Amino acid sequence: MTSAAAPSVASGQGAKPPRHVAIIMDGNGRWAKRRLLPRIAGHKKGVEAAKTVARAAGDLGVEVLTLYAFSTENWRRPPDEVSDLMGLLRHFIEHDVQELSQNGVRLKIIGDYKTLQPDLVQLIDKAVADTAANCRTTLVIALNYGSQAEIARAAQALAQDVASGAAALADIDAAAIEARLYTADLPPPDLVIRTSGEQRLSNFLLWQAAYAELMFVDTLWPDFGKAHLAQALENFAMRERRFGGL
Ligand code: FPP
Repeated sequence: MTSAAAPSVASGQGAKPPRHVAIIMDGNGRWAKRRLLPRIAGHKKGVEAAKTVARAAGDLGVEVLTLYAFSTENWRRPPDEVSDLMGLLRHFIEHDVQELSQNGVRLKIIGDYKTLQPDLVQLIDKAVADTAANCRTTLVIALNYGSQAEIARAAQALAQDVASGAAALADIDAAAIEARLYTADLPPPDLVIRTSGEQRLSNFLLWQAAYAELMFVDTLWPDFGKAHLAQALENFAMRERRFGGL
């Protein structure tokens, strides 16, 4: 984390929390390794942390929480680990979303999740539909998500519109691309947090995070809880955001 900058007019005490916090949940494997446990044990604890943080986000006034659960690159992991992660996701959708829903959580998925197993896709679609009316917090799970693929997909959609005459070449601007991203209906992330001490974005919300504050914390994801989120929000409140201005 950076040291606290001088508060701007729009920050400091009493500042509003970020509307949208996005988290790269890293360190599950190391958490397990330190305890001589299999990696799946770290991922299981990681799901618990995800649930805790989703509830905490609502308590702390965060409207949107995006969690990077499975990237387009995560298919490179050993098949057993991929299968374990999909199993945990299935369990989360089947058993945990309902409880989160009672806490006012709406579920949204970003990424190419339709290519997952058809029954899992059905479960996800049902969970999304069942929670659609909730309005306390939007929990966005990035699933089979990669930012570069998302931008390429938006470019394809735009090219198709130009080819069909639905859009003109001159209509291609940042707003036109944004409207074709998975996140079109969401505010951009104000704060991107990565846990476990790694300092990179790993193909996560590259377009959307153009003006996000970045925070890298040493805590491993399974140990991350409400107090860590609250501390991150305090740090965020001290940041001066200029959005390219002065
Ligand atoms: C990174 O830790 C974590 C992942 C690639 C998976 C994140 C997934 C979860 C927390 C579970 C799914 C979440 C939900 C909400 C269903 P790592 O394995 O790369 O850790 P390491 O760098 O220490 O090995």
